[in-house]
Amino acid sequence: MVDIKRILFLTSNEGKLREAKHALEPRGYEIVSFVGGTNKVQLVEVQARDLVTVAQSKIEQAESYVGNAHQIDGVMVEDAGFFIDTYPSFPGVYSAHILESLGLEGILQLMHGRKERGAEFQSAIVLQIGSERFVAQGRCRGRLSEDVRGNGGFGYDPLFIPEDGDGRTFAEMSLDEKKALSHRGHAMARLLTLLEDRR
Ligand code: IMP
Repeated sequence: MVDIKRILFLTSNEGKLREAKHALEPRGYEIVSFVGGTNKVQLVEVQARDLVTVAQSKIEQAESYVGNAHQIDGVMVEDAGFFIDTYPSFPGVYSAHILESLGLEGILQLMHGRKERGAEFQSAIVLQIGSERFVAQGRCRGRLSEDVRGNGGFGYDPLFIPEDGDGRTFAEMSLDEKKALSHRGHAMARLLTLLEDRR
């Protein structure tokens, strides 16, 4: 069996890339991407409510990128989303778009005066190695903070306090701390288990 080492991660999100490298590279997988290069990733996002369906559709569009990359053993996509209990499925698969239009302050405004502040992150990773497909999911429960806190991370991180943490937001944590608790950290750990089982 071929030893899988080099994975092309199709993302234009630097935060996701940083966390994927942090999770997978110490375990012997080199993560390459087009972030910062001229080859922009343009995958159509299907209209679907669940992240796995979106990620599966993206991996099916990925063939054209594989042709442009040399010595790649596998191709990976990740779809992630933020879900606020008060607003079912929202922003969910529209997380990136909603954050862009409302901003963190706009999200806080939506939640103004609400005591119920439960929320969660979800991640769905699909890795294709030849004809084999690995699907790994992770989630992280927590709550929305009352204000924007911390300079680390990306996206909704300054608003999210994971329930298994110590009261800090993801944006106030190191990469290691976020990995131990986060949806992406859990999904990456699951992916590593699937890859190890395959050997
Ligand atoms: P997509 O997976 O590229 O569709 O993006 C989902 C959006 O969810 C991102 O652009 C972020 O705004 C948000 N998001 C996903 N994962 C995280 C995370 O770990 N922290 C903060 N925001 C995230």
